Amino acid sequence: MKRIRSVGIVGTGSYVPPKILTNSDLEKMVDTSDTWIVERTGIRERRISSPETTASSLALPASLAALQSAGVKPEDVDLIIVATSTPDMTFPSTACFIQDKIGASRAACFDLSAACTGFSYALETGQQFIATSTYKTALIVGAEVISKVLDWTDRNTCILFGDGAGAAVLQPVADNYGILATSLGADGRLASILELPVAGCIHMSGREVFKVAVNTMIEAVEKVLDSAGISQEDVSLLIPHQANIRIIEAMGKRLNIAQDRVFVNLQKYGNVSAGSTIIALDEAVKQGRVKDGDIIVIVAFGGGLTWGATVMRWGG
Ligand code: UT7
Repeated sequence: MKRIRSVGIVGTGSYVPPKILTNSDLEKMVDTSDTWIVERTGIRERRISSPETTASSLALPASLAALQSAGVKPEDVDLIIVATSTPDMTFPSTACFIQDKIGASRAACFDLSAACTGFSYALETGQQFIATSTYKTALIVGAEVISKVLDWTDRNTCILFGDGAGAAVLQPVADNYGILATSLGADGRLASILELPVAGCIHMSGREVFKVAVNTMIEAVEKVLDSAGISQEDVSLLIPHQANIRIIEAMGKRLNIAQDRVFVNLQKYGNVSAGSTIIALDEAVKQGRVKDGDIIVIVAFGGGLTWGATVMRWGG
């Protein structure tokens, strides 16, 4: 039996492409309005990548920034896991492309598919490898060029999503720091309410997804807080999947976590799927909203349906 040790995020980075698509741009493309989009979702603009951009090209600056903030050299990375629904190719994995681009020649590489919950699944997977001492350093990436799999004539979906990437470096940390508990879940019976068929576009029954999202994320957060023996009042910052402000507010209210302890950046980026929570965490760190010793909760949901929550004590 290998030794179990505490594992935490020791560096983060993110990158979004420069081109902004505003709600008023969308008014010219589909039958929608800025008012409708802001009231129903909270989104004001999103980033759209150029035709030649891939998930790995967005992940490159995000990964380098995460490594730099962790003070880790690419050649010291043992493992790269990429959560994406829009990989560069079916194979090689997007992780292999990132390995080559950053020069992490020693790293084992694979991609993981859990839609918008991808970063949570990847974080827990990476954590397991380090906790058991199989590896010391993992680079966990959530990267999406989701604009390339949208039906730009479908106002139900095309207004919601945007492109971007985030990355986190995982390493062993002091006891009682790092990831304290994780809860992952899935319900394959609900596969058809949010799907991206091979070579197709995203299709979604928004209202149904909305209800399941709120309930499953609340349950997942309650579960991890309970396993870690932490109360709602002790949560310094909740970092939810950035899909819809109404989902986030409903969750915060039912969990008794005031909105000033909930991080929101969806007005700028829309839903970046697997990139969503890690881009949000990186921005929160940069804004000084995450300090040593803080209790941070990341929670997400997505196609599958899948969901997951992670509670961590920052630093160590
Ligand atoms: O990572 C997971 C990603 N998925 C999600 O997070 C989806 C969760 N669901 C949602 O965020 C919301 O359900 C939506 C934002 C997708 C939709 O909001 P809603 O309040 O649930 O609206 P609705 O689907 O009930 O539609 C209300 C009306 C409909 O018109 P009628 O039937 O009442 O005449 C829609 O056709 O709004 C119409 N509508 C729009 N109108 C203007 C739908 N999309 C648009 C639009 N602009 N873009």
